[in-house]
Amino acid sequence: MQEMAIMAKQAFSDQAKDMALLRDDGDPIYLQICARFKTAIAEGRMAPGDRVPSVRALASELGLSRGTVNLAYQILAEQGYFEFRGAAGTFVDPQLKSSASRSNSLPVRAPSEPSSNAKPFQLGLPALDAFPRKTWSRLVSRRSRQLGAEQLGYPEPAGLMALRERIAACLAFSRGIVCQPEQVFVTAGHRASLALIMQAVFRPGDGIWFEDPGYPVAREFLLAMQARLQPIPVDQDGLVVEEGRKRAPNARFAIVTPANQSPLCVMMSKDRRGELLKWAEEGQCWIVEDDYDSEYRYNRRPPLSLKAMDRGERVLFTGSFSKVLYPALRLAYVVVPPSEIDVFERACRSMGSGCPELHQAVIADFIEQGYFIRHLKKMRMLYAERRQMLVDVMQEVFGDSARTISPPAGLHLVMQIDRHRASYKKIAALAHADGFGLQPLALWHMGPQSVDGLLLSFTNLSSRPMAQSLAARLKAICIASDKE
Ligand SMILES: Cc1ncc(COP(=O)(O)O)c(C=O)c1O
Repeated sequence: MQEMAIMAKQAFSDQAKDMALLRDDGDPIYLQICARFKTAIAEGRMAPGDRVPSVRALASELGLSRGTVNLAYQILAEQGYFEFRGAAGTFVDPQLKSSASRSNSLPVRAPSEPSSNAKPFQLGLPALDAFPRKTWSRLVSRRSRQLGAEQLGYPEPAGLMALRERIAACLAFSRGIVCQPEQVFVTAGHRASLALIMQAVFRPGDGIWFEDPGYPVAREFLLAMQARLQPIPVDQDGLVVEEGRKRAPNARFAIVTPANQSPLCVMMSKDRRGELLKWAEEGQCWIVEDDYDSEYRYNRRPPLSLKAMDRGERVLFTGSFSKVLYPALRLAYVVVPPSEIDVFERACRSMGSGCPELHQAVIADFIEQGYFIRHLKKMRMLYAERRQMLVDVMQEVFGDSARTISPPAGLHLVMQIDRHRASYKKIAALAHADGFGLQPLALWHMGPQSVDGLLLSFTNLSSRPMAQSLAARLKAICIASDKE
């Protein structure tokens, strides 16, 4: 024990000596600290699993502020060099491959090793650090312990009744939807919801209005199913119904995200909602209302759903647990009009699927015991904070050369950055090569691009130093891409 303490002390004083030559006329000090640690690791002077000095100790040894050292540590942790272990201290990540030839700027996990962490600015993930895992594990354990023989057969194709009941109850107060549990069909994610809808009510050759820009995952899935997609532009009021009527007058479906347009986060206006419902009623068309994250609107209450206004029974409402709980669950649902229950039941049976019941039961418990509402409330506050933090940090790092063009809603920002020559696609490609998970808006367009920019998620920005270091890295990437 004493020997270990002596070794740790020796390592610390070596590292402190290493840092002693930091200069304030070159790169910012925190980047110099990062570079020194990376060199020490690459040269084998520090090995995976080694403890590194505490922020306080190194800051006092070098006469720097703790904030500077902390920022460097956050960057190193975020790049996979360091691992924080709470009170136990900070260590060189044991999963790091110790190799002198490793590049200093690239992420350092072995490529084949799946990382459970979100990539910087990665779209589509809720805050993985804020999920109430303890409560959830307790509910899962309880359900597992109760497993009886009757639960070993095939699951109910339309979903566990207890969950369908809970979903129907939640939708009544959160989205103004009055429905019976029998109208709710549980699926294995949004694409499974679309597949069910196609199986139930789609006819070969039916045209589909698809928002442009719109969700590329759904777009690729529908194209693979040979659907005829008609890109319809989106403006500040949501999908432009008049354009849809002009460009694809015979379409029989419209797939829309009226609460938080994906990806622009605009809310469909009341007039547009009226126009869309009128179009559907007149032509006996179907509106697929994709309500994937309506809970997240930060300056006002979420709007009433289209489904709640659906007098003509033309709306198929789809929801998902990916954003409000977590995506690994692979659970979503469709709410259909009463007149379509039989058709959807048949489609469900013919697809022969049904989802594993254990997690359906756990979600039902989570909702029934009040955890769901509490979780949503907490997440709304957390996301509002993280969103504002990213807006502030981008302003701090980029100044007036960057702006947010999306309203305060959803789980990402749409950012525009002044550039000279580089396209957003190029910036995104360079950022990807550096381990980022942001996306260019171009990916979301089918037709001529009406709006350009970058999509940056803020959900997993767990601290300001982390956001600062990522924004600084992004700025460096933008500058480098402009010079290329
Ligand atoms: C527009 C949109 N719809 C639906 C979903 C939900 O998809 P899933 O249930 O497959 O996770 C997402 C998730 O990112 C989305 O962005």
